[in-house]
Amino acid sequence: MQEKLRRTGEIPRHIAIIMDGNGRWAKQRSMPRIAGHSEGVESVRDTVEACGQLGVEYLTLYAFSTENWKRPKEEVSLLMRLLLKALKDETDRLHTNNVRLQTIGEISALPVEVQNELLEDIQKTKDNTGLTLILALSYSGRWDLTRAIKRLVEDAKANKLPEDQISEQLVASYLSTGDIPDPDLLIRTSGEFRISNFLLWQLAYSEIYITPKFWPAFRRDELYAAIRDYQQRERRFGMVSEQIKSNGSKGGTLNRLIKSVTGP
Ligand code: FPP
Repeated sequence: MQEKLRRTGEIPRHIAIIMDGNGRWAKQRSMPRIAGHSEGVESVRDTVEACGQLGVEYLTLYAFSTENWKRPKEEVSLLMRLLLKALKDETDRLHTNNVRLQTIGEISALPVEVQNELLEDIQKTKDNTGLTLILALSYSGRWDLTRAIKRLVEDAKANKLPEDQISEQLVASYLSTGDIPDPDLLIRTSGEFRISNFLLWQLAYSEIYITPKFWPAFRRDELYAAIRDYQQRERRFGMVSEQIKSNGSKGGTLNRLIKSVTGP
């Protein structure tokens, strides 16, 4: 299947996923919500492995949003313990598979053991050259934009930033995704049609794929279906269809244009 996908079209360079439906998956089975989160870790493992094998360069997972802090204390605490355990259990395998781990979000808000584990795992995998796995933790798009604006204003006050230098590229460079290219494909599970405060700036031109499957039931076959669907889309970036079609014969002028829209 992976070979077939490589033949049928382009593999998205960056996939972002809103992993939703863990609670409902568990409820359907009369299990506690944490059982859904726990099975969700299996989906994370399978998706990361399949993305690495396919040659996806970046995978960003919305693992814990700023808003998730408002959940019952017990669920937050269990989620943090599950995250810590998953990091401890999986980092060696990630490392062996040449995966580089990164995070976006307000990491200082996480329990200190989670912060320490993340630091250690990021350090350990930093020179890996395969898939970059980005965990969005205590993250929200509005938090990201607010933080970028604060930092931009600070630099402007310190005269590090002439006004005429404020461009889209500059704003993007102040976001927590820095030099990571924008997602090509956003997948959301559990059939909800919402962005839920995820990568608000970065998703400007992403193709969106929504599946009714709950996250714990999302495995590599679902990922392949999403990529297949992506390959059948025509990405126009605000242009017209004819411009896209004629690009193939014109030495990639459009590809350069697209790169200027989606980042490095
Ligand atoms: C959404 O389902 C899922 C989450 C808020 C947490 C996702 C966390 C994991 C899959 C486990 C840890 C992650 C990693 C990266 C190891 P929900 O609880 O909102 O489900 P519901 O909408 O059905 O209630």
